[in-house]
Amino acid sequence: MCGIVGYVNYKLNRSRKYVITTLLDGLARLDYRGYDSTGLLVDGDETDKVLPYKIIGKVAALKQLINDEDVDLKKVYTTHAGIAHTRWAANGVATLQNCHPLRSDVSWRFAIVHNGIVTNYKKLRTQLASEPYQWEGETDTEVAVKLAMHLYDQNAGIGFAELACTLANKLEGAFSLLLKSVHYPGELIAIKKGSPLVIGITSQDTQQMSSLPVSYHPQRFVQNGEAIINSANSTHSVNGTSVSEPSPMWAHEYFFASDPSAIAEHTKRMVFMEDCDIAHVHYGLLDIYSIGSPDEAGYGRPVQTFDHLDGSIPSKGTYAHYMQKEIYEQPEIIEAALKDRLDVESGKIDFQGLGQHMDRIRTCSKISFIACGSSYYACLAMQELFETLTNVTVSIDIASSFLDKLSHISADVAYVFVSQSGETAECLTALQYCQKRGGFTIGIVNVVDSSIARLTHCGLYINAGVEIGVATTKAYTSQLVHLVLLALALGAGNDSTHDRRREITKGLQRLPEQMRRILTLDSSIKELCETKLMHKANMLVLGRGYQYATALEASLKIKEVAYIHCEAVLTGELKHGVLALVDDNFSVVMIATRDRSFERSLNGYEQLLSHGGDPIILCQEGETAFNISNGHCIEVLETVDCLQSVLNIIPLQLMSYWLGVLRNNSVDFPRHVAKSVTVE
Ligand code: AGP
Ligand code: GLU
Repeated sequence: MCGIVGYVNYKLNRSRKYVITTLLDGLARLDYRGYDSTGLLVDGDETDKVLPYKIIGKVAALKQLINDEDVDLKKVYTTHAGIAHTRWAANGVATLQNCHPLRSDVSWRFAIVHNGIVTNYKKLRTQLASEPYQWEGETDTEVAVKLAMHLYDQNAGIGFAELACTLANKLEGAFSLLLKSVHYPGELIAIKKGSPLVIGITSQDTQQMSSLPVSYHPQRFVQNGEAIINSANSTHSVNGTSVSEPSPMWAHEYFFASDPSAIAEHTKRMVFMEDCDIAHVHYGLLDIYSIGSPDEAGYGRPVQTFDHLDGSIPSKGTYAHYMQKEIYEQPEIIEAALKDRLDVESGKIDFQGLGQHMDRIRTCSKISFIACGSSYYACLAMQELFETLTNVTVSIDIASSFLDKLSHISADVAYVFVSQSGETAECLTALQYCQKRGGFTIGIVNVVDSSIARLTHCGLYINAGVEIGVATTKAYTSQLVHLVLLALALGAGNDSTHDRRREITKGLQRLPEQMRRILTLDSSIKELCETKLMHKANMLVLGRGYQYATALEASLKIKEVAYIHCEAVLTGELKHGVLALVDDNFSVVMIATRDRSFERSLNGYEQLLSHGGDPIILCQEGETAFNISNGHCIEVLETVDCLQSVLNIIPLQLMSYWLGVLRNNSVDFPRHVAKSVTVE
């Protein structure tokens, strides 16, 4: 989804080219999140001028646009600020007027880039209606930048930090933003309320972390929960010591981004902003204010060094698309995960940090899984396994619905947030909702140091590696396997399930090799897509028992990548209405691998045949129960029932991939969807 990048240097000679390249490279690293338009803005040659560039399209096109402009890129500045953005249209379609940076007025007195949604923007816009402001687009963002100008005009001498605290207090919703103004040259404001924002710092004094001029001011401009405007902020403190003349001796650079990987090539020293934080860079100093309540958890997080961060973008290697590469990486990833976590002989599972919390989870009255999209389906696939192995009640909620129904939070429930990105907006809101009410929270995430990873009480990384394809593949199967491991670990010591756990452990050991063999179906699936599926407008995927979740996941993949309307239906529900849809133009994929629902799946198969259906069957190798003479059959290897989802999804991932390719779709970055869904 949308990405933000910002930059300011201090006492350091940097060419305009360097600043623009830093912003563009940062945006390119956020490319994977999905967006429709992009823009950036840097200081102009005079302090009251800025240089804005925007385009509908990709970062490469923005780069070209800037290259084509007659701008002096060689010019060197000791202080130079810039902000940049990739936009995923949330409020208002993708037009240049709505593309960020947005401006307060035609002379760009204030400029903003913004991720997320300002929910009270209509009310604020009405409040500003009497002002002679010229509104240019439909975004919620525009109200924020106009309000910034309004506050400046109404409060003579107001400092930028004070203005920003007041602004942040007036804006509601889940968002983060960067604000720049010609009235405060060399300064930059960052506000975080919900969406992630990280600040990277480099210092000429490379040895001493403690010398970084970052200082925290909780509640500085807040009284009784309200932002207050006093006078201009004239004194500053460096490492807690008040200084009247804010000017560090050494040179600094500050990088801002919505994902640390966007700036990791420049620095590994970072501060993750907390919700309700306002960061103010001025004269080489970084002040962080909070307008949150004083007991807000985590306030004043220090600068940390994140050596593991890798800003490089993985290559596609010999594959045509990231999605294809990621599908093929699955056996190795599962193999590595099992090697790391599971001792097959003893059945012991090593969860490192999370291991210490096992007893607490075991004694909880309930495990409540909360997730969105595919991550939700991964939880659904393993619900029954958790119930049988742990004797603990399990509930599964889509994060938005968990919030909609104002779920009751209890201290003896384990709330487990499953998310590839660790940034999904509804999951984060639900996480905060749980924590505010005393809930015990656990994260199962892929992206290291993502918001969910940092905010939950404990958790588990699924270590699937960077996933670029917007349609998740390798993270999904890693989630499945880690959920199986978690269920096994929680069930450890229970004699009545000993044999079942042993069977699953052995099944896990065989998985990577079986996954490799299933990948050899690739060319036959491509052919099936060419001959039977690619021109269809509608599809149905049927599954039951453990395989209902696989049907849901497969149907989401087909919608997302192939742009074919595809519904997942519980096989048993077919006769309750959906059969009416079946005709020659309707493709049905039926998952019918052998488990305890197999016999009942056969009923569904017969019903389909009796009404003219011609289903493609996904079944076990050597299956004889179906009339497969038409060749419409995908044979997979057999494993333990609860692990079968890991194998069954692979041919269906390949099916969605090939359908996307054959229909000339943007397979890695499907239209309208984003990798990291950071707006609710
Ligand atoms: C899956 O292909 C989707 N891109 C999407 O449903 C995704 O799983 C969902 O947005 C949740 O994302 P998360 O796992 O990063 O929280
Ligand atoms: N709400 C803002 C807009 O529509 C930001 C969207 C985003 O996060 O990309 O412009």
